[in-house]
Amino acid sequence: MKILMVCLGNICRSPLAEGIMQHKITASGLDWQVDSAGTGAWHVGEQPDSRSIATARQHGIDITRQRARQLKPHDLDRFDLVLAMDSQNYRDILGLATTKAQEDKVLLIMNFVAPDRNQAVPDPYWNDNGFEQVFEMLEAACGMVVEKFKVGV
Ligand code: 4NP
Repeated sequence: MKILMVCLGNICRSPLAEGIMQHKITASGLDWQVDSAGTGAWHVGEQPDSRSIATARQHGIDITRQRARQLKPHDLDRFDLVLAMDSQNYRDILGLATTKAQEDKVLLIMNFVAPDRNQAVPDPYWNDNGFEQVFEMLEAACGMVVEKFKVGV
């Protein structure tokens, strides 16, 4: 399983999602890969936001080695699951898809927790207090992704 986490800037939400999923992959001994990307290019090459780094660290997860990159059309071939944080990300990702197979890989991450509710992981960039809530939402969603796709672990 190759999973790509996608948000707008690739500095707040999707780096947390990548870090949480990598933590679960390692803890479960799964032969999976995870990466993250942003639909926008503003922060390419940057470390995650210091508030995401701090929130992850409080939960024992180090995301300091991540660097932001922009989503590319080729990602829709390289990954099996492309998980969007909100409906704007979802639409922007689908805008790069050219085949039904690519479109079918794109899902809203919170639908693993609350199916068909199309709930957003709120963008915490402008809200210093939002990062812990984002962490908890992504922790729940990543747990459900592991439960759904792990085989024989
Ligand atoms: P993210 O948050 O999409 O969770 O990484 C944002 C980061 C930066 C900006 C917006 C959202 N920005 O406008 O620069």
